[in-house]
Amino acid sequence: MAASFIEGVSILKIVAVSFLLDGLYSGASAGISSGFYFNSCTTAESIVTSTVLSHISADQTIAAGLLRLHFHDCFVHGCDGSILIDGASAEKSAFPNSGLRGFEVIDDAKSKLEDTCPGVVSCADILALAARDAVALSGGPVWTVPTGRRDGLISAASDASNLPSPMESVSVLKQKFSSKGLSTVDLVSLTGAHTIGQTDCRFFSYRLYNFTSTGGADPSINTAYLPQLQQLCPPGAAAGTNKVALDKDSQLQFDAGYFNNIRQGNAVLEFDRRIFEDTSTQIYVDTFSGQFTNLVGVSFGTSFVNAMLAMSSIEVKTGTDGEIRRVCSKFN
Ligand code: HEM
Ligand SMILES: *[C@@H]1O[C@H](CO)[C@@H](O)[C@H](O)[C@H]1NC(C)=O
Repeated sequence: MAASFIEGVSILKIVAVSFLLDGLYSGASAGISSGFYFNSCTTAESIVTSTVLSHISADQTIAAGLLRLHFHDCFVHGCDGSILIDGASAEKSAFPNSGLRGFEVIDDAKSKLEDTCPGVVSCADILALAARDAVALSGGPVWTVPTGRRDGLISAASDASNLPSPMESVSVLKQKFSSKGLSTVDLVSLTGAHTIGQTDCRFFSYRLYNFTSTGGADPSINTAYLPQLQQLCPPGAAAGTNKVALDKDSQLQFDAGYFNNIRQGNAVLEFDRRIFEDTSTQIYVDTFSGQFTNLVGVSFGTSFVNAMLAMSSIEVKTGTDGEIRRVCSKFN
């Protein structure tokens, strides 16, 4: 296994951030604050970080799973751990959540936290911290995560139908994001999360054959890349057979190169390509790719961090709302 990604530097950066308790973003919003566990569970953040690190050391691809888990948690009932609940009709069982992974990492961190400071650290916060650590350990930016979220008491598959689909248009997704308080630049920045991770063929193979009944592939796919995608996802490939990197040639590295792939027709998910074709979002794709300097001082790294802070504050429960679960997959 290539271990170069686990550079001492990345780990030190995270540790430094964990102790940067009067961080820049302490006023983030909605009753959460940086260093919330400083007195009640001093090692909370370092326990999450070391747990994430040990799982990523065994399987680097799990970082992407953790980042996506936090997104899917926040978009339904806010960032309240509702995605973690087990059950035949729980949120987790809804179709848009079928490929989620990394639950075992959250469970592992929770059991270590319960040993050290029982009943103190919420599963919602573990998800937010693990997403931050996953990005940092993949070579991306590091930031201070405000904490103090409480775990929710509702988890229903029927509430998950509004999660974004890769077949939706830019205008529909702008609407979905703005209904959660996220702007157009947040939408493009957060889509940049696809700089790591993978997708099942079923989310894009319709682009490869008889796209919109034209008989051919989606013409926006780079013709040099198309045969490789067709080989990975043959017609009628069963769900779960193959996984394809969302960021061609750079699936493990959190970098801005993803926006070059989008510009060059190498996006795998349809929506990721559409943000280059819509004028309201193209300016950010160009800027983040470093090809243009249309927006001076705007970079993928800082925009992504700002967008993550906004996303991880969606409809959070604080104070005496909700509960602190003892086991993340079950209500108390
Ligand atoms: C903008 C709308 C979005 C759409 C339509 C979308 C769609 C998808 C789809 C279809 C997959 C493949 C899932 C699978 O095969 O299991 C995926 C993977 C992923 N998504 Fe998104 N996504 C969106 C936004 C986001 C956001 C906001 C984040 C996080 C900030 C994110 C993070 C990820 C990651 C990291 C993966 C790879 C997961 C893995 O390797 O297991 N996505 N997304
Ligand atoms: C593409 O789909 C259309 C509509 O379903 C169908 O009429 C046509 O025969 C298909 N073309 C190919 C090449 O499969």
